[in-house]
Amino acid sequence: RMPGLMPVGDVRIQPSGLVMPKEFVPDIDRIREFEVRPDDVWLISFPKCGTTWSQELIWLIGNDLDYEASNKKLLLSRFPFLEAWSILGDDLKQGENPEDEWFFRADTIEYIKDQPSPRYIKTHLPASLLPEQIWTVKPKIIYVTRNPKDAAVSYYHHHRLWNGYSGIYPLFMQAFLEDKLVYCPFWEHVLSYKTLENNENLLINSYEEMKKDMPSVIQKTAKFLGKTLSEDEITKLAEHLSFKNMKGNGAINGEEVVEQVRQRYKLDSSDPGLCFIRKGEVDSWKEEMTPDIAKQFDVWTAKKTKGTILENK
Ligand code: A3P
Repeated sequence: RMPGLMPVGDVRIQPSGLVMPKEFVPDIDRIREFEVRPDDVWLISFPKCGTTWSQELIWLIGNDLDYEASNKKLLLSRFPFLEAWSILGDDLKQGENPEDEWFFRADTIEYIKDQPSPRYIKTHLPASLLPEQIWTVKPKIIYVTRNPKDAAVSYYHHHRLWNGYSGIYPLFMQAFLEDKLVYCPFWEHVLSYKTLENNENLLINSYEEMKKDMPSVIQKTAKFLGKTLSEDEITKLAEHLSFKNMKGNGAINGEEVVEQVRQRYKLDSSDPGLCFIRKGEVDSWKEEMTPDIAKQFDVWTAKKTKGTILENK
């Protein structure tokens, strides 16, 4: 992928219409045939909806609050991203710039296959592209969602950092609304899981709930994962997951890698938008979106959710 350019995809994969870089295509079958284990825990989201936050929450609950282990090992390795390798450009895969150690340089699908159980697996894929065994083996799946205006603003800053995207903000938003960016279309993604909400192996959380009442989300998620936590444990975990703590946690914030990325693209390291754990607010789109773009998002949401279970929600 050329740095600086709009992160639009190359292909649209049916039936979901998922937009992806061309590098992903050869791995579709490998993912479809991926062997699922009953004690896997899957965390699924559209990018920028609170994935990292949820990963730390789920991993700690699943690992009986082992803070020592969580602080020692990068979240990226504890809770790997299934298709991370599949969406990298060939230049990065082949290590054309071997001096850049700023990516997970391993085939993530193979890495996950080799992990001992229980495995914690992150993916941004919509339901139709998950491994087929998901539907028969039925591991626990947690889906996290977020208001698309905040997700889009967060995605814009994400690409300013990770791809050195230097394009114009309204054009990025336009591309989001036109479902041209990688992992779009947003609403189809959310709906592919919302329509499965009655499945007992699926729990849907939201970024907004996590902001508003983290202890309740911890309790609900622990129950779903078959764990019981005391009041004190819940309080301590909520504190561990606070924005301030996560931003300062080296096992999560990716700061070492982020600094390499900033140098690679000669980015301004004093720009507060150019970090991984960035702002962490609900409705912060209000500070960054013009009323005109916000209106376009509302019209788009109404159109995309019309006649679905999310209509007028
Ligand atoms: P912002 O860019 O709006 O700040 P993902 O992990 O899916 O990529 O989501 C990233 C978003 O989650 C970013 O949103 C990031 O700041 C936010 N985030 C990460 N940890 C958080 C926390 N502990 N509290 C609140 N928001 C958090």
